[in-house]
Amino acid sequence: MLEIIRQCFKQHFTANGKLYAAPGRINLIGEHTDYNLGFVLPGAIDKSFYMMVAPNGTQVCNVFSPHFNAMVSFNVDDTDIPEAQWSRYVYGEVKELQALGCKIGGFDAVVASDIPIGAGISSSAAFTTVTGVALNDLFDLGLNRMQLAKAGQMCEHHYVGVRCGIMDQFASLHGEEGKLIRLDCRSLEYQLVPFSPQGLKIVLLDTLVKHSLASSEYNLRRADCEAGVAHLKQSYPHIESLRDVTMEMLEAHRSEVTPVVYNRCSFVIEENQRLLDACAALEQGDYKSVGLYMYGSHHGLSKKYEVSCPELDLIQEVAQKHDGVLGARMMGGGFGGCTINLVQEEAVEDFILACKERYNKKLWKELRPIEVAIGSGARIIS
Ligand code: GLA
Repeated sequence: MLEIIRQCFKQHFTANGKLYAAPGRINLIGEHTDYNLGFVLPGAIDKSFYMMVAPNGTQVCNVFSPHFNAMVSFNVDDTDIPEAQWSRYVYGEVKELQALGCKIGGFDAVVASDIPIGAGISSSAAFTTVTGVALNDLFDLGLNRMQLAKAGQMCEHHYVGVRCGIMDQFASLHGEEGKLIRLDCRSLEYQLVPFSPQGLKIVLLDTLVKHSLASSEYNLRRADCEAGVAHLKQSYPHIESLRDVTMEMLEAHRSEVTPVVYNRCSFVIEENQRLLDACAALEQGDYKSVGLYMYGSHHGLSKKYEVSCPELDLIQEVAQKHDGVLGARMMGGGFGGCTINLVQEEAVEDFILACKERYNKKLWKELRPIEVAIGSGARIIS
């Protein structure tokens, strides 16, 4: 991958470029909690978006993608969003950095990634993050990692159309090898949690399904949660987000909100608690309990938050019945993508085979296992 990027750069541009990487992420538990200002438990992975880039002394940004075999050019002052969907991540990030008052000149860049697209492991956040990290360094912008995470998040809001939380960008920037990050999305305080369970492996199974409604449904879930908060605020004026709401408060006003809003809110409150309980279990090395919380998370995501799909439910069910599996759930925004499974090392092969067979037999589809290790956050490579 890095060789391809270097060759492309030489082929299309003249100057020597610097090479940057920003990883995708997994999330052990705590889904759809970030934009509700709760907790998440992600980790960066050993798969990244890469950008080789050099300033070109003009006002024009040229970005080449070997994957699409396409070059997109725009002026730093352009207000028209480029047509090519993939290039919006770079254009949008430039605009967000400018909105922070940063002065950005023209540049030549090659971008490529070894993160499977659409698998729910945040290739898009990695793309904006690598752009932010590269431009921050190249033009000496002086932004810190938190500012870069927020700029990436805003790029998704304004130029991709997903009102995402901060988890993905944060994990891509703050990850460390062998460690998960317990992030409080309200205070933005975080702790690194060592995660290298003896005899267990994280296995990701990609359904290779991506529903076209994923981003609009994501925004609707967020709106449902906001509707719940707006209603409860009438009785509890101090409430700013679902983080401030207890199950008792929600139950007391259950009949005043729609069943859908009730389900969405109760899922988020429960998911936050599951995460805190899972962290306590992790501290004790009690992976069996961690796994049970993962099952609980999937059940809520599927039945209450309704962001799963038949493909995810099927392989999660196979996992839950498999003797060698401790925990399994869908991961990320949902409506496709992958499951994250906590599996006994010696059972991994058999487990993957069992899922593949069932998936193929029942749905006539291929399942793609993705091997990941918990890696470090965004960085300069050379
Ligand atoms: C996507 C978003 C994140 C988060 C997850 C669900 O990955 O980008 O901010 O909301 O979905 O937990």
